[in-house]
This record gives sequence, C-alpha cells and structure tokens, in this order.
Amino acid sequence: MLLVISLLFCLLHHSHGSAYNVMNYGAKGDGKTDDTKAFQEAWQQLCNDVGPKSRLTIPLTKTFLVGPINFQGPCKSPSIHLRILGTIVAPDNPSSWNNCETGAWLFFANVNGLIIDGDGTIDGRGNAWWTKSLTDIAKEFKCAIPPSALHFENCNGLRLRHLKHRDSPRNHISLSRCSYSTISNLDIAAPANSPNTDGIDVSLSTQIQILDSVIKTGDDCIALINGSSQINITGINCGPGHGISIGSLGINGEYATAEGIYVRNCNFSGTQNGARIKTWQGGSGYARDITFEQITLHNVNNPILIDQYYCPGGNNCPKETSAVKISGINYRFFQGTSSSRTAINFDCSNKVACSGISLDQINITSTVIGESTIARCNNAYGASSSTEPSATCLIR
Ligand SMILES: *[C@@H]1O[C@H](CO)[C@@H](O)[C@H](O)[C@H]1NC(C)=O
Ligand SMILES: *[C@@H]1O[C@H](CO)[C@@H](O)[C@H](O)[C@H]1NC(C)=O
Ligand SMILES: *[C@@H]1O[C@H](CO)[C@@H](O)[C@H](O)[C@H]1NC(C)=O
Ligand SMILES: *[C@@H]1O[C@H](CO)[C@@H](O)[C@H](O)[C@H]1NC(C)=O
Repeated sequence: MLLVISLLFCLLHHSHGSAYNVMNYGAKGDGKTDDTKAFQEAWQQLCNDVGPKSRLTIPLTKTFLVGPINFQGPCKSPSIHLRILGTIVAPDNPSSWNNCETGAWLFFANVNGLIIDGDGTIDGRGNAWWTKSLTDIAKEFKCAIPPSALHFENCNGLRLRHLKHRDSPRNHISLSRCSYSTISNLDIAAPANSPNTDGIDVSLSTQIQILDSVIKTGDDCIALINGSSQINITGINCGPGHGISIGSLGINGEYATAEGIYVRNCNFSGTQNGARIKTWQGGSGYARDITFEQITLHNVNNPILIDQYYCPGGNNCPKETSAVKISGINYRFFQGTSSSRTAINFDCSNKVACSGISLDQINITSTVIGESTIARCNNAYGASSSTEPSATCLIR
C-alpha cells in the first residue's frame, strides 16, 4: 500500500514538476542573515528538475539578503518558475558583494521559458554605489562599474511580470541575446537624481514586448541599444526619468543597429526626454523603422528628439565624419506639453542625413502660458501633417 502511494506520489510529482521553497534550503528571510547559499542550492534543485512545471517560491512577508548570484542554465525543464512573493535585498555595504564577475547582482544565463512573477520586491540598495566615483568603486568594491540589479543573458521565452524593482546600483533590468520575451506590469523606481539607473535596457535581442509598467528613475525609463529588433513597447508611464530612448548607438566608432521598434500608448511626465534617438558621432550602422504613437506628454524637456551629437558630460567629443544612419522614423498622435521651447528637435549628422521622418497629428504646447513651441532641424528629411509646432524645417 505504502509502496503504491509513494509510487503514485512519485508519478504525480514527476509529471507536474516540483514546488520548491527557498526556506527549505536554509534561508532565514530575516533581512540580516546572508541567504545567498540557500538561493543557490534551491536554484540548483529547480534547474535540475525535469518539470515540466517546476517552481521555486520566495515566500511572502520575509526579506532575503543575498549577494551576487549566477543563476545558470540550461535547465532541464522547458519552463522554470520563480515566484517572488517576499522581498530580496542586496547587501547594504557593497564591499561585501565581493563578486563583480557577471556585471549583475541577480544574473540569469541560458535559461529558456523562465517565468519570474509574484508581486514581490527586488531592492538593489543602490545608494551606496551612486555616491561613489568610478575610481572608488574600482578600489573599494572591485567593480569596473556598478552592477545591474537583474540581467538576463541568452534567454528565450522569458516572462517577467508583476514585480517591484527598487534602487538598482545601475540599470534595473537588462536583456541581452534574448528573444520571444515579455516584460509586463512592473513597478520600477529609483530617485530622479540617481545616476545611470535605467529602468529596462535591451540589446542584441529580438521579438520583445514591454507592457503596462510604471517606471520612475534617474535615467532612461527604457533604452533599446545595439542589436534591438522587433520590439513593442506599450502602456508605459515614464517619469521622472530620461524618456524612452533608442541608443545610445555608435560609441567609439562602433557599428550598431536598431530596427522594427514600435512604441505606443505611453505617458511621459516631468521627463528630460520623451521619444529620443541618440547616437554618437563616428559610429556606423543604422536605426530604422521606428514608430512612436499615442504619446502623452506632461512637462517634458525634449518631447521629440533625434540627437546625433550625443555627448554626455559636455562637448568634449571630437568631430567625426561618419554616423549611424537614421531612417524611417514615424511620430503620430502626440499630445501634451513641453517645458522647453524646442518641442521637436532633429539634430541629425551633418554627414549622414536622417531620412524618411514623418510627423502626423502632433500637438505639443509650452508649459509656459503664452509661450509658443518650435521645431528645429539639422539635415533632416521628411514630411509633416497636422503638426504643432509646425515642422517646416524638414527637407522634403
Ligand atoms: C508588435 O505589434 C505588432 C502590431 O500589433 C505585431 O504585429 C507584432 O507581432 C508585435 N511584435 C512583438 C514582438 O510583440
Ligand atoms: C552590435 O550588434 C551587431 C549585431 O547586430 C554586432 O555585429 C556588433 O559587433 C555589435 N556592436 C557592438 C559594439 O557590440
Ligand atoms: C496616461 O495618462 C492618462 C491620464 O493623464 C491616463 O488616462 C492613461 O491611462 C495613461 N496611460 C498609460 C499608458 O498609463
Ligand atoms: C493643442 O492642444 C492645446 C492644449 O491642449 C489645445 O488648446 C489646442 O486646441 C490643440 N490644438 C489642436 C489643433 O488640436
């Protein structure tokens, strides 16, 4: 009888995959004890489980202090579920991180079909990093740059949703070499003055959706960097922050690409930029087939911006003669206010013109009552209709 029951249990167990709980691996969840080992061991079990639906729970009402973790795949199950109900926090003193190998605090590599959800919080405690110079970070923390909070490397079918992300040392979430993935219903926040705290960065990835999220940070809400293609972004509330950016592309003369990007139904509030494309002088490659539509702006400094002279931290960038080619850029249904006079600014490369810029149904007024907004163009080809401020500076 016992044999039959345990056999049955085994069968059930096997066919549904197992449910793991990090508490069963020695985690304390008191916010003080280092639970890194427990997370690593629980992950090993989860990743080795044949599934098909294996799950690891990080329980509610507890706070887990963990250092850098390398969540390595490939895993045996085609679907791995990490359910974060409680809070995960990074060490408050970065000198105890002791590992900058992966460039991220929570690093996931080569895991297919990964689902991370659960209404929990991931707190990177970035403050200790933000206040240090890169020299001090190298000396004291043995890191070249502050780490990302959450990085996904080489993922397929990632579902990241319903989580709170707080105070990353650098960008909150980054994806590289990922495909067919969806990020949704996130709440990402860091102080408006925290450096380089992008919300979500995407590079070398295709077929990605970013949906229905609130992002308030000190840098780009979303940045689509080199090798981003077929990316849909909808339902994002951005601000404070630096807007949704394509780029920067082409640093140090690099070849870089971005294409097939569709940003729809997004709000920008008090941001430095709205829809921005930024490239460095001297690069090559292209940014093309990009659409921004149904955009609401409240008090945005550069609502529509193409900046091919991107040079953060001043004008020390040497003059170059090549550039990332920008073409096929559509802006439709923009409504709202600009905090600067130049609501539309196409500052294209003097050597490589922007082409195929299209503006339609745009109405951006000034935050200052009685002041009008303007459009500026440099070497920008395209056409506009129903656009306020009028963009007659575009070359037809
Ligand atoms: C993006 O949206 C378009 C239009 O709705 C759709 O055809 C396309 O499949 C979407 N791409 C992704 C990656 O979700
Ligand atoms: C940009 O991505 C392309 C592939 O799309 C790659 O060939 C190139 O090396 C990348 N550039 C950089 C600087 O990473
Ligand atoms: C943008 O803000 C308006 C109100 O200002 C709201 O109705 C709309 O749902 C918001 N859109 C998104 C994507 O959150
Ligand atoms: C543009 O927006 C302003 C402020 O919302 C509004 O008063 C004005 O009528 C709009 N213009 C057009 C052409 O829709």
